[in-house]
Amino acid sequence: MKRIVVIHGPNLNMLGKREPGVYGSETLSALNDQLHKIADHHHIALTCRQSNYEGQIIEWLHQADEEADGVILNPGAFTHYSYAIRDAAASIRTKIIEVHLSNIYRRESFRHTSVIAPVVSGQISGFGFASYRLALEAFIGEDVIE
Ligand code: DQA
Repeated sequence: MKRIVVIHGPNLNMLGKREPGVYGSETLSALNDQLHKIADHHHIALTCRQSNYEGQIIEWLHQADEEADGVILNPGAFTHYSYAIRDAAASIRTKIIEVHLSNIYRRESFRHTSVIAPVVSGQISGFGFASYRLALEAFIGEDVIE
C-alpha cells in the first residue's frame, strides 16, 4: 500500500476563518476529508498533519524518509524563508510536492520566492484545495519524475 503524508504548515489550522477572500471558507478538516476520500478510493494510506512549528515540520519530514512514499507539503509562510525546512526536504529520499492554496506569484513580492521549490519534485500553486488533490493524483499516477 502506498503511503502518502500531507504536512500543512503554520496558520493552515485557521482555514475557513483566515482571510477567506484568499483561502476560501472551507476548513482544514474539510480539505483533509476530501483527500481521504480520494486516498481510500485508490487504497492509499494517507496521513494528514498540521503544525505551526518549524521544528515539528522538520521532524515529520525526517520521519517521512522511512515512513512514506510521498509527501505533500504546504510550508505556509516558511516557504519563503525557512532554510531549515529546505535542508530537511533536501535530506530525505521520499519525493515531495510543494503545494499552495493561493498563487504565491500573484501576491506580495515576499511570497514570490520559495526556498523550498529547488529541492522538491514540483510545486502546485493557486488552485485552492485542488492544489492538494492534484498533488495526490500525481503520486497516485506515478507522475512524479524526480
Ligand atoms: C500559502 C501561501 C503562503 O505565502 C502563506 O504564508 C500561507 C499559505 C498558501 O497555501 O497559499 O500560509 O502557503
